[in-house]
Amino acid sequence: MRNNQPGILAPVPKLARYLKFSLKAGAKPRAALLELARLADGSKFVVGIGQPVALALGKTIEGLRTFPTHFGAGLVLPSMPSALWCWLRGEDRGDLLHLSRNVAAAVASAFSLDDLIDAFKFGTGRDLSGYVDGTENPKGNKAVAAAILRGQGAGMEGSSFVAVQQWVHDFATFEAMKSKDQDNAIGRRRKDDKELTNAPASSHVKRTAQESFEPEAFILRRSMPWSEGTRGGLNFVAFGKSFDAYEAQLKRMVGAEDGITDALFKFTLPISGSYFWCPPMQRGKLDLRALGL
Ligand code: HEM
Repeated sequence: MRNNQPGILAPVPKLARYLKFSLKAGAKPRAALLELARLADGSKFVVGIGQPVALALGKTIEGLRTFPTHFGAGLVLPSMPSALWCWLRGEDRGDLLHLSRNVAAAVASAFSLDDLIDAFKFGTGRDLSGYVDGTENPKGNKAVAAAILRGQGAGMEGSSFVAVQQWVHDFATFEAMKSKDQDNAIGRRRKDDKELTNAPASSHVKRTAQESFEPEAFILRRSMPWSEGTRGGLNFVAFGKSFDAYEAQLKRMVGAEDGITDALFKFTLPISGSYFWCPPMQRGKLDLRALGL
């Protein structure tokens, strides 16, 4: 029986909201987390717990760490530790507003809402650059194997780790690129999503080709485009049974291995980076036993 938060494996919804919370100074998160556990069904919203919460409770979640800023060489990226992440999933902006209010109220005794991102599905599931996003995602049992922790005992079994990065696209720069250079930056043709046979080593799909890592580095991407006024980009979200596969990819993207930087960085940059642990479910509610709750 699967006891992961169901929203992790479900298809990307039409609309979403991402909420990030910090711990209030000196706050004890226990009561707020129990309240959240009662409200969360893992489908309408997926919950991620950050390292600050584990530290405040004096617990260690094996595998939960802080988002890396660098890999010794290559680009340096922003890392923003955060206490709590909620991915609200829906079809209706009104429902998402009310759900945001309910979630924020449930945890208000210990957490402050720091960041709220409105996101949406673009077309059939494209990034705002127009490229299909998610084509090479593992499916079915392979998705479960990539994203869900197994064999770790009650409280950890069925949990997942999620890497979250808000990327801001520079649309003017992207649009000034020739269409061939845009395709080369991704490594796929925008018009039909076909992988380019001679994509340059800097192309995004060459950098991140999951089978090319040792061990293979499969992750389950559930990213969604975001916008605010005329700004926009991708809220990159990747679930894994650990952060290792994600970090192996990021390390290549920033050029730490061979000095070649992912061509994506020509037109988009991350402005945040956080890691969370997504607890399993038990009888339809979040299972927080690993945190001693
Ligand atoms: C703004 C940021 C990003 C954009 C616009 C983007 C876009 C894309 C697109 C269009 C594809 C090709 C279609 C597909 O297989 O999904 C792709 C593939 C992929 N991306 Fe990204 N991506 C971004 C960031 C990242 C990051 C940060 C990582 C991991 C560190 C990543 C990992 C992957 C992986 C694993 C693949 C599939 C590679 C394969 O096995 O063929 N992406 N991405």
